[in-house]
Amino acid sequence: MKLAARLGAIAPSATVAMTARAKAMAAAGVDVVSLSAGEPDFAPPDLVQEATIAALRAGHVGYTSVGGLPALRDAAARWFSRLYGVPFEAAQVAVTVGGKEALALLFAALLDPGDEVIVPAPYWVSYPAQIRLAGGAPVTVPTRADRGFALDVEAIARACTERTRGVVINSPNNPSGAVYDRETLAELAEVVRAKDLWVITDDIYSALTYDGRPFASLLHVAPDLRDRCFIVHGVAKNWGMTGYRVGFLGAPAALVRACVTLAGQSTTHTATFSQYGALAAVEAGEGVVADWLVAFDARRRRLTAGLDALDGVSCALPGGAFYVFADVRGLLGRRLGADLVADDVQLAELLLEEAHVAIVPGSAFGMPGFLRFSYAASMEALETAIARVGAFVGRLAP
Ligand SMILES: Cc1ncc(COP(=O)(O)O)c(C=O)c1O
Repeated sequence: MKLAARLGAIAPSATVAMTARAKAMAAAGVDVVSLSAGEPDFAPPDLVQEATIAALRAGHVGYTSVGGLPALRDAAARWFSRLYGVPFEAAQVAVTVGGKEALALLFAALLDPGDEVIVPAPYWVSYPAQIRLAGGAPVTVPTRADRGFALDVEAIARACTERTRGVVINSPNNPSGAVYDRETLAELAEVVRAKDLWVITDDIYSALTYDGRPFASLLHVAPDLRDRCFIVHGVAKNWGMTGYRVGFLGAPAALVRACVTLAGQSTTHTATFSQYGALAAVEAGEGVVADWLVAFDARRRRLTAGLDALDGVSCALPGGAFYVFADVRGLLGRRLGADLVADDVQLAELLLEEAHVAIVPGSAFGMPGFLRFSYAASMEALETAIARVGAFVGRLAP
């Protein structure tokens, strides 16, 4: 069978692939600790579950509007107005099949062949693939571990060409856990104005920041850019509702209409009863999951300290999300028996095969030499993972 050329431009999602392998090993009876998925290990709040069941019982199982349940669009517009400090109306918001579809629709609506989009690295695995699928060209701009993976705004400005249309930012960041500060965002706003760009801001982890660090958005520091600032959000991470498949996009009404037209010819909309569950979540606000933050914070500290103590591994305490992005360049070039640990991909393979710990290599996020550990797992699982990785590192010969 001949497949379309566009498939040559993308590979399966590395995070999905690693999680599937870990599940297959577990099903075969292997005691695997899986720290590869980007999924809270807490159940959605009770009020969300009750609203979803009530929606099913009430027969809310038919089609609804392509742009989402009107009540959910209204609720999301009120939430965005609160979160971003600028007024949003329902027409400036659409409900999507997860944050992932919001991104795909935006790229499809905005990009023509050859258009360039700047993607700071490390980045969430799907940005470059989705940009390529939409005919665009991702241009990665690295950040530095020793600067806390903060945006390198000067490098972004230098990477701009006459084909550059926009930038994708993500804070709190997957995989680095970095939380951007207002000063850096204000510097980015200068570049955006000077080069006449748009910005897609993926804020799906907005409620997950630690040490009292506030979530900061480009719109907080540059409300004048609201017509060029396109928001991607969702209920997956802030409320632990990954399988509900409900996301949101926030943008000028004309762009929202264009995205809804695209959705109307592809997915139509996400499940109607899921949207009722999301409505309960958004109306209750992010505060309903405040307890999670306390648990995540303790795990974040334990995992960071446990990994950083290992010879050849270094990581600083991340400010948000639920990932530790560990620098393992100190382990590369060592040997496990006859095997040379040449790169992060091979290291991740060996950790799975030999130590039964599933994590994702940094290469998948555009940053070789690092490994992403998710701490959306119990403290017991993290202790086991730290011990196993430690024992594995101890077996490596220089
Ligand atoms: C940064 C980031 N954006 C978007 C998504 C997509 O989320 P959803 O499950 O709502 O499609 C994820 C999920 O892992 C993510 O980490």
